[in-house]
Amino acid sequence: MHLTTEEESILNGEQGETKQQLMEILTGIGKVFGAEEMVPVRSAQVSGASYKTIGEWGLKWLASLDAHATVPAVLNPVGMDRIRWEEMGIDPAFAKKQLEVISAYDRLGIRLECTCTPYYLNITEYGDHLAWSESSAVSYANSVIGARTNREGGPSALAAAIIGKTPKYGLHLVENRKPGVHIRVEGEPKGADAAWYGALGYLAGKISGNRIPVFSGIRPGRDQLKNLGAAMAATGAVALYHVKEITPEARIFSYSTEGLEDVTIYADEVASLFTGEQADAVAIGCPHCSPDELMAISDLLEGCRVTMPVYIFASRDVIDREAGYVRKIESSGARVYADTCMVVSPALERYDRIMVNSGKALAYVPTMCGAGAVIGSTKECIKMATAPRP
Ligand code: F3S
Repeated sequence: MHLTTEEESILNGEQGETKQQLMEILTGIGKVFGAEEMVPVRSAQVSGASYKTIGEWGLKWLASLDAHATVPAVLNPVGMDRIRWEEMGIDPAFAKKQLEVISAYDRLGIRLECTCTPYYLNITEYGDHLAWSESSAVSYANSVIGARTNREGGPSALAAAIIGKTPKYGLHLVENRKPGVHIRVEGEPKGADAAWYGALGYLAGKISGNRIPVFSGIRPGRDQLKNLGAAMAATGAVALYHVKEITPEARIFSYSTEGLEDVTIYADEVASLFTGEQADAVAIGCPHCSPDELMAISDLLEGCRVTMPVYIFASRDVIDREAGYVRKIESSGARVYADTCMVVSPALERYDRIMVNSGKALAYVPTMCGAGAVIGSTKECIKMATAPRP
């Protein structure tokens, strides 16, 4: 692997022990995957932020580091809203440890935005090289924006945030971004709801495995693409997908599907995932809600009060920007939390069955929260959980 003089000096420890250790991580990964060089990144998104996942060992490692991020970097969602954690019913012992993890990242210069939708915060453009960790964010960056990122682990994303570079291999190279399976969708999507695309992604991820799918027969918008990609990254290992005539790399690939395995998913199969079962809580915002989604939820809640817990998750930045919609949502009794989500927070472990509007949450809630999960459209989620206001 070719290293510049500057990179060599970091690796030799001339810029301190932490940078040396982090450069060793990056070059080690680069060698394993055959990278020829490093590439500068425009931003990083660092996983390993929830105390629920990194535990005491992870916290100690973070506390031992002495360096500062050199590119814009944010965190993945953590185990709780870092301001309203008491209201979420989080155990104070857990909260103490979680706040220690957050302040360790703060000391390293990572912005205290804990979100899987960093594309709503930092400028991310077509062709940018990134070092992002969270699978749905990686999928969105690659597929919807046309930026380039591998799915980084927590330590490698943190290393990239501090060094400002990542090894150039995998999805950083155009030749590795070609489709490997053609998924034809037949039949009409149920409404225009993003949940339908989440359910489609739930099925398509299982078919794709680690191949790059190219879809035909659908015309999703941005929030629908977000849900589609998130679900495929959960039930498969899909970090990039294409949709004919929709996603930006249509400009590069002609999308000849010749020679690719051809699989058809029928709209009826997708619809069959919507079982209409009841639940004892609702969780929306996987991935974190966009401003448009918050607006739609506030419209659906107009004139209603909630009759069961309704959790909505979004980045703190989006919540602050959309304070009017958030106020309207919360006046119904629903809660809009930042920094966390239904999967990484222990707060939702107390329910038997949770209704979600996300294919990714449908896949992860049962294993990560120990609760059953049922998928419904956003409208169905709100309808199940509300009554008209007297
Ligand atoms: Fe984001 Fe949590 Fe879903 S990290 S993609 S809201 S599981």
